[in-house]
Amino acid sequence: MAVLDLVYEGDPRLRQKATKIRHVDDSLRRLAANMHETMHAARGVGLAGPQIGIMRRIAVVHIPENYDDDGAPAVTLNLVNPEIIRAHGRVCAYEGCLSIPGWTGEVPRAEAITVKAIDLDNRPLRIKAHKSLARAIQHEIDHLDGILFLDRVEDKATIRQLEEVGEEDVVEA
Ligand code: NI
Repeated sequence: MAVLDLVYEGDPRLRQKATKIRHVDDSLRRLAANMHETMHAARGVGLAGPQIGIMRRIAVVHIPENYDDDGAPAVTLNLVNPEIIRAHGRVCAYEGCLSIPGWTGEVPRAEAITVKAIDLDNRPLRIKAHKSLARAIQHEIDHLDGILFLDRVEDKATIRQLEEVGEEDVVEA
């Protein structure tokens, strides 16, 4: 496995729409493993293809155990062609992005979502997510559509340096 180079804000690839994946093969499975390694090295909870310059609709997510609540299990996902099919509620929280290091802002997101995707074995996947998992998945799907979290900050006064808010209160993906 390998840690891949991240793409940062200002790179036009972060503003392009990623293309749909027709079939998951071994090279995509290797890419997913490297994306997990890259995400862990950067201490994020999610990473999407465009953030490593791969313009295809793949994202990985890992929410560590006890992240939102004591006793909550860890969740690890590989999402190919993810799509939100249901969303409800609205919640604002601080969010950050591995492609915009050092910055955060309050982003409104759906509180709970249902997502369909395919997994690394080309099987259909349907996930119900809420709290930080739902936030991370919405953030990653935005990356696949060329949208960055700063675009979604409604109150621009909440855009601050990460260290002012404290990393533990920010979902970084
Ligand atoms: Ni991001």
